[in-house]
Amino acid sequence: MSSVTSTLGPKGLEGVVATSSTICYIDGDRGVLAYRGIDIHELADHSSFEETCYLLWFGRLPNQSELKDLKERLAQERHLDPAIIGLLRSVPSSALPMDVMRTAVSALGIYDADEKNNDHDANVRKAIRLTSQIPMLVAAYDRIRKGKPVVEADRSMSHSGNFLWQLNGTKPSSTAERALDIALILHADHELNASTFAARVTAATLSDMHSAITSAIGALKGPLHGGANEAVFRILDAIYRKKADPVEHIREMLAQKKKVPGFGHRVYHTEDPRATHLRAMSRDLGQSSGQPQWYEMSEKIEAFVRAEKKLNANVDFYSASTYHVLGIDEDMFTPVFAVSRISGWAAHVIEQLDDNRLIRPRADYQGPEYPSHYVAIEKR
Ligand SMILES: CC(C)(COP(=O)(O)OP(=O)(O)OC[C@H]1O[C@@H](n2cnc3c(N)ncnc32)[C@H](O)[C@@H]1OP(=O)(O)O)[C@@H](O)C(=O)NCCC(=O)NCCS
Repeated sequence: MSSVTSTLGPKGLEGVVATSSTICYIDGDRGVLAYRGIDIHELADHSSFEETCYLLWFGRLPNQSELKDLKERLAQERHLDPAIIGLLRSVPSSALPMDVMRTAVSALGIYDADEKNNDHDANVRKAIRLTSQIPMLVAAYDRIRKGKPVVEADRSMSHSGNFLWQLNGTKPSSTAERALDIALILHADHELNASTFAARVTAATLSDMHSAITSAIGALKGPLHGGANEAVFRILDAIYRKKADPVEHIREMLAQKKKVPGFGHRVYHTEDPRATHLRAMSRDLGQSSGQPQWYEMSEKIEAFVRAEKKLNANVDFYSASTYHVLGIDEDMFTPVFAVSRISGWAAHVIEQLDDNRLIRPRADYQGPEYPSHYVAIEKR
């Protein structure tokens, strides 16, 4: 029936290798994640988000002047066209931050001087610009919807520090700034996850960076991908409000055959290495902020799900309690994921366009037999 000659791959393309890449290495059996060969644990301990961006975009660690230069370029790009702020003001305040970000990133392309230029250097410039603009969009919309004034960017601050400043209107503590910085490093790239694949598919048509990133944001939103961190917090919050037993709440979910957000992974068959750091951050920030309850509930849920379902916590499970303690609203968690992942998406778009071929797989046709004939409407 089908004209497709090769065999149908596994549902959801599980285990299918769709491209070669030099950006991100994952060993799902050993729980290894590395950017350009450098283990995520080393980067989380020693690097900064800006340095990680350099590593992803330029393929190696920068020297001091290269890092200084990139930090300056990122800081210089901290401005949004007034028309974009106007757009953020024009949407209903009930609009989800993730939807507003997707729409605004699409609109940013219209104002980008490099919009129609797909060469390597233009793509690097767009990567830098979008990495600076996305956190500004997220922070500005959150303030606008709460009736607060938009905070001017501070070009002397780090990327993470400036985001918290523009979000909260107060200078963050060094602990909060570093915690967010580590979270951004941990979320920066993850090989061919669904949103990155979406970005590469769009880029591969020779569309453009902004279209690719808009596709990626749409894919990230879903609860099976980046949207899981918001879903995790909604569960923690419901348990807390009802003063319920976390284990009983999750037992009930499993009894109803519901998936527990923040658990399981398509690639990792052991601990997600990002969860290791986020667990510790959630614990430490919870203690230092006087809100240990979120970590304590999470810990009980993790132990139960591991014992009951043999599933490990993924990146989204402890990022929920971490972001909450950092004062970030739950519907902003997935946008904060994008504040980081823009770096990896952009690296993949650059790599795709540097050596492009259209991504166009086939489907195994299972529909009505061919030929089936057209029947005039009056005879049906
Ligand atoms: C991440 C995820 C989409 C991977 O999905 P996948 O590779 O397609 O795996 P499946 O959904 O086919 O799951 C395999 C089995 O484990 C179970 N499972 C997987 N994740 C589960 C979860 N979070 N809670 C309960 N059961 C889960 C499935 O029900 C399935 O069981 P079955 O074989 O008895 O039907 C999946 O684990 C999930 O939905 N997790 C929750 C959402 C989430 O945290 N997403 C963020 C990922 S970083």
